Amino acid sequence: MKFFVDTADTNEIKELAATGLLDGVTTNPSLIMKSGRSMKEVVAEICKLVDGPVSAEVVAMDFDGMMKEADELVKIADNICIKLPLTLEGLKACRALSDKGVQTNVTLCFSANQALLAAKAGATFISPFIGRLDDMNIEGLDLIAEIRQIYDNYGFETEILAASIRNANHVKDCALIGADVATIPPATLKALVKHPLTDKGLEAFMKDWEKTGQSIV
Ligand code: E4P
Repeated sequence: MKFFVDTADTNEIKELAATGLLDGVTTNPSLIMKSGRSMKEVVAEICKLVDGPVSAEVVAMDFDGMMKEADELVKIADNICIKLPLTLEGLKACRALSDKGVQTNVTLCFSANQALLAAKAGATFISPFIGRLDDMNIEGLDLIAEIRQIYDNYGFETEILAASIRNANHVKDCALIGADVATIPPATLKALVKHPLTDKGLEAFMKDWEKTGQSIV
């Protein structure tokens, strides 16, 4: 399973990239707003920090506008992935960009039928938002499972990028279902390593080691 981080905070990205665990980054207009920085500037910096795909979202609502924005965004770096909304115009742009060999991420997916359309449009990634479904009392993980089954039924190569992840269990459950990628907020990604028994065990080992009076180097 690939790990993307869902943020436009370059300090967080730097820290996580240094662990070697990061396979890509997703941004969206809200995350850009939160960064307080120019979109093109921050996305260019992110593209230098990670080798994998960096999703940059178009904001036009029509095909021509999306294509113009995509043309501008792809100039930023080779690892740019164009994020498009799950609308008919977005799917049309997805097909055109995919045919040109540009990586695409179709976002704001809330149904299996939407995911089916994105795969037919040649999307590199489909982003089902599980947390936002959970917020409405609809099981977000069921959507991941449905998409997995549909994509496997037909051998679609579009990767399932589980998005709107809110906790560590979401990551584990997406991995069990077989999502290809999870895009995770920095704090949740860091929380994956935590276990109280690891901390307790380490503390005990360190105390006993100190008693030996030895050093390794
Ligand atoms: C995905 O690409 C989105 O940026 C993100 O996962 C949305 O998450 P949210 O529902 O927590 O805003």
